[in-house]
Amino acid sequence: MSAAGYAAGYAAGSAAGYAAGSTAVVTGAARGIGRAIAERLVRERFRVLVADLDESVRSVAEELGADAFVGDCASEEGGTALVARAMEQLGAVDVFFANAGVEAGRGLDSPESEWALSLEVNVMAHVRAARLLVPLWLERGGGRFVVTASAAGLLTMVGSAPYSVSKHGAVAFAEWLRVTYAGRGVVVQAICPQGVRTRMLEQSGPVKELLSRDRALEPEEVADTVWQALQGDAFYVLPHPEVADYYAQRAAHPDAWLSGMQRLQAKLDAALEESPAGSAPDRTADATTRARS
Ligand SMILES: NC(=O)c1ccc[n+]([C@@H]2O[C@H](COP(=O)([O-])OP(=O)(O)OC[C@H]3O[C@@H](n4cnc5c(N)ncnc54)[C@H](O)[C@@H]3O)[C@@H](O)[C@H]2O)c1
Repeated sequence: MSAAGYAAGYAAGSAAGYAAGSTAVVTGAARGIGRAIAERLVRERFRVLVADLDESVRSVAEELGADAFVGDCASEEGGTALVARAMEQLGAVDVFFANAGVEAGRGLDSPESEWALSLEVNVMAHVRAARLLVPLWLERGGGRFVVTASAAGLLTMVGSAPYSVSKHGAVAFAEWLRVTYAGRGVVVQAICPQGVRTRMLEQSGPVKELLSRDRALEPEEVADTVWQALQGDAFYVLPHPEVADYYAQRAAHPDAWLSGMQRLQAKLDAALEESPAGSAPDRTADATTRARS
């Protein structure tokens, strides 16, 4: 698509969507939501670069017929290498999915390293990618930046302060980016799901039940919603539509909403007491955290 056609194509939220051969980068695509989004994009005839810390992203790329980048998408160095690879292999990035995320840490006793990891991967990775991509997009007439935040970024996440804070940061950054650059052809969207059946949900211990209170979705269902969202430019992408009602309640009746969340916290406390070890599994002991520590 030419720069002008590209800009006009989505500036109107055109249902014409993206032409075959459009390009995308998906971070955190070795599994879960990122993999499902990449798979859907390939099916829709995008050329895709799948990126992850985990080496297994190579076999995902092979399976899908995509290109692979193995590395840390959150660090300044890794983010720079990723965008350089994307430009080299795809020629341009029409859509960037800042999807890689971590759920590390829990309460006030979360160590500094878990706060730092959460802020690096869930917020700073997005800042660093946008810093590199937006100037390129302004030059060519447009681009699209899609952040996988979370319903936790609009509401809160019982049981995890670093996740709640970093996902609010992800939404706040996406909002700022949208406000600042939408007038210049950059579409920014924030995906805010509740429970999705991935490794992250599996590793969330007793919180899993609470997160799955409304139906937990398959990653492919999230990818369907994302694909529909790509045909327009609505900021919030809500695979669980009920999140819009919770968000409205939070704004309209904050104290009542907080009381409801306190009741949910009480249920989590009871579940933690009942669990044999008296605590959730060590969610930070996964490959992601080890690779970055
Ligand atoms: N699963 C859920 O219930 C749920 C709900 C809301 C939001 N989310 C968000 O969706 C996104 C995807 O999560 P998922 O559920 O598919 O999790 P997942 O754990 O299945 O996959 C996350 C992937 O990100 C990769 N990753 C982590 N840090 C990275 C880094 N620095 N560089 C490169 N890759 C990195 C991991 O290796 C992993 O393959 C995350 O941002 C998560 O916070 C998940």
